[in-house]
Amino acid sequence: STSLTQLQYLVDALVYVSDGSIVWIETDVDGSQLQEVTTRHGLDLEGLSTTHDADFVQLDERDFICPGLIDTHTHAPQYPNLGLGQEYELLDWLQQLTFPREAKFTDLEYAQKVYDQVVKRNLNAGTTTCSYYASQHVSSAKVLADVVLERGQRALVGKCNMNRNCPDYYCEASPEASVEDTRALISYIRDLQPSKLPWKSANPSPLVQAIITPRFALSCTSDLMQGLGELMASEPDVHIQTHLSENRTEIQETLRSFPECKSYTEVYEKYGMLRNGTILAHCVWLTEKEMDVIKRTGAGISHCPTSNFNLMSGGARVGAMLDKGLNVGLGSDCSGGFALGVLPQLRNASMLSKMLAIQPEKPNEQANGHTGQFTDKPLPIPTLFYLATMGGAALCKMADTVGNFLPGKEFDALHVTPGTSPNFFLDVGEDRPAGQTREERRTKLKETFERFLFVSDDRDIAHVYVRGRKVGGAKQ
Ligand code: GUN
Ligand code: FE
Repeated sequence: STSLTQLQYLVDALVYVSDGSIVWIETDVDGSQLQEVTTRHGLDLEGLSTTHDADFVQLDERDFICPGLIDTHTHAPQYPNLGLGQEYELLDWLQQLTFPREAKFTDLEYAQKVYDQVVKRNLNAGTTTCSYYASQHVSSAKVLADVVLERGQRALVGKCNMNRNCPDYYCEASPEASVEDTRALISYIRDLQPSKLPWKSANPSPLVQAIITPRFALSCTSDLMQGLGELMASEPDVHIQTHLSENRTEIQETLRSFPECKSYTEVYEKYGMLRNGTILAHCVWLTEKEMDVIKRTGAGISHCPTSNFNLMSGGARVGAMLDKGLNVGLGSDCSGGFALGVLPQLRNASMLSKMLAIQPEKPNEQANGHTGQFTDKPLPIPTLFYLATMGGAALCKMADTVGNFLPGKEFDALHVTPGTSPNFFLDVGEDRPAGQTREERRTKLKETFERFLFVSDDRDIAHVYVRGRKVGGAKQ
């Protein structure tokens, strides 16, 4: 993905990865030129696999690699609730299902088991970078950070801050304790790396980072919001995530709890929580003014369409956000959403944009005079894939590190083997690509990629790489 509207399909490409980073990429290389091209780059192809701790991987002619997917919003301890709670909207769903489940994460053995599954399944679904909410317990958030690092996923890990509107058995004792635990998690995650990486790496930058996670305004007293705002100010580089403007009742309650604020967004602004590196999940009901505030602060939006449909929260106006120049990524929001991974979010983002496009009245255009490229229009494939990769990377302040294949970036990638799952069985009665011209193969690749985005499943992702290491996939 080179921009919101551009996707490049490289055929006969050669990618050289060293120490987890892409060193060079050559395209349109014939098999007969392989030796010449590698030699030009000072590489001894023959000697590679024998003399180095290295691999020469040649893809089957139908296979392809693409950048790893970025999930900008999910809740690891809600994994066991996946698919449950169809009858609820947000606030009841939290009380009936979500808080009781998350409360179980004082049991660290249970946490270890669940988190190991979550991280493994997210990797296998192609999520190479993930922004996680843990429960409110700092002890189990540390377990999640350990598991993520051991499994080799790139991640942000935060413990929820919440000291009101939750049951007694799942409520933090005081604002001070909540802030103190958050501080403790930040130091713990900093100390985890790089020296304690479970594998050898010359790359000193951390793979797992802490993220400050006020659950949402309704679960934090003003004291706690104040304390967290101060913590954020003292940690200018730390990431922040929260929920914003998800459900209409939630919005009403929030405005009642913070009567001095004119909008939900203003609550977070007031406490200094909006800045570059803040991930705001949902943003279904934002006004134009709120979008402007978010844009001014450099915060980004995690679009969670499956969750927004499932909890009947509503349809976020992603097209309008993009026309305003806001940063948008995708979030699975397990278990508000019932589908792990980023591809289901891409599919539902597409469906939602089509639904908004066919509505007879165009509320965005009428109310706000939008006539932009994306507002109330179906999101094109390059835009959808941008949201799944580069958009997410920008939200996580990783746009210089991951999100697409450029020399200097780290190699987070999926090796896709089309035809492994039955839906994605492509070559019924068709010739294999051998013998086709390069342009014919490029056209074919484009078609295969579109099918990958819409009908594949985990079985089609054979290998998943993070920082050049194989960390998952159906054939790991
Ligand atoms: N708002 C506050 N907590 C949550 C949560 O766990 N999931 C969702 N979707 N919204 C929330
Ligand atoms: Fe959420």
